[in-house]
Amino acid sequence: MTVAKVAMQAEEFRLIREYVAEAAGLVLEEGKQKGLAAKLSPRLHELRLRSFTEYYSYLKFSPGRSAEWQRLVPLITNNETYFFRESAQLSVLAQEVLPALKESKLARGERSLRILSAGCSSGEEAYTIAMLLLESGGFSWDWDVRITGVDIDTRALEAARQGVYRERAFWATEPHLVERYLKRQGDSYVVRDILRKWISFKQGNLLELADSAGGETFDVILCRNVLIYFADQTVQRVVDNFDALQAPGSYLFLGHSESLSRTQASYLPLRFPGAIIYQKRE
Ligand SMILES: C[S@@+](CC[C@H](N)C(=O)[O-])C[C@H]1O[C@@H](n2cnc3c(N)ncnc32)[C@H](O)[C@@H]1O
Repeated sequence: MTVAKVAMQAEEFRLIREYVAEAAGLVLEEGKQKGLAAKLSPRLHELRLRSFTEYYSYLKFSPGRSAEWQRLVPLITNNETYFFRESAQLSVLAQEVLPALKESKLARGERSLRILSAGCSSGEEAYTIAMLLLESGGFSWDWDVRITGVDIDTRALEAARQGVYRERAFWATEPHLVERYLKRQGDSYVVRDILRKWISFKQGNLLELADSAGGETFDVILCRNVLIYFADQTVQRVVDNFDALQAPGSYLFLGHSESLSRTQASYLPLRFPGAIIYQKRE
């Protein structure tokens, strides 16, 4: 059934924008007003609300506000992702970073590895990292490996936990890896158990990352294609949160179009062909 679209006034859009920026750090661009009104109109009808001013009050003050926020999040996030995204960086992870971490850990008599996929969406990045680790053969049974995927969007996380993907998710993946780590199921592919063993997915907000980190620190954080949606002061806050969860010498990966250039950060850029990554100062 199609429902009548409720018009969103400029002032109402401003209120919702401010709410979203404060809660998730996300910047809703000016041009999104009409689209957001169209996406939210069915919800206003369900809640029997007559305007977006009423919706804003519901979102901010009602007893159901936290559930409503979880319904709103998928409408304002971009969850696009795929396996082996930005592969030049992943080669640096596999060929430079993992061997260096392994060597320095073994020198200290440690056998644990912690990796965070921050803004993991539907899980493709976390599963890609697991494939790289398995393919490297360098982290066998006597290593305590954990890959944590965190995202604010519970629907994306549901998909991550299910681990069922369509063919298009693998356009950048070598076919033999799909064959080895996923099982065909009708039109889809399901991740095999071997790929799940190190991974857990958690709902969390990068603005309050310590809450979802559970006291853990991370040798590698990948936060790719997430910061582009944040304002500069939010990027600073998120990078400070990463800093608090990483020991000196740990690594940070951002997306191709993201950098720390507009932040005060204790990370140094390391340049490789086709990829820049960051390392926390010793
Ligand atoms: C475009 S996806 C990037 C996925 C993956 N990192 C990649 O590069 O393919 C961005 C993800 O960031 C998540 N996100 C946005 N704001 C967030 C926040 N404040 N806390 C946690 N996750 C957030 C979104 O829900 C979305 O799933």
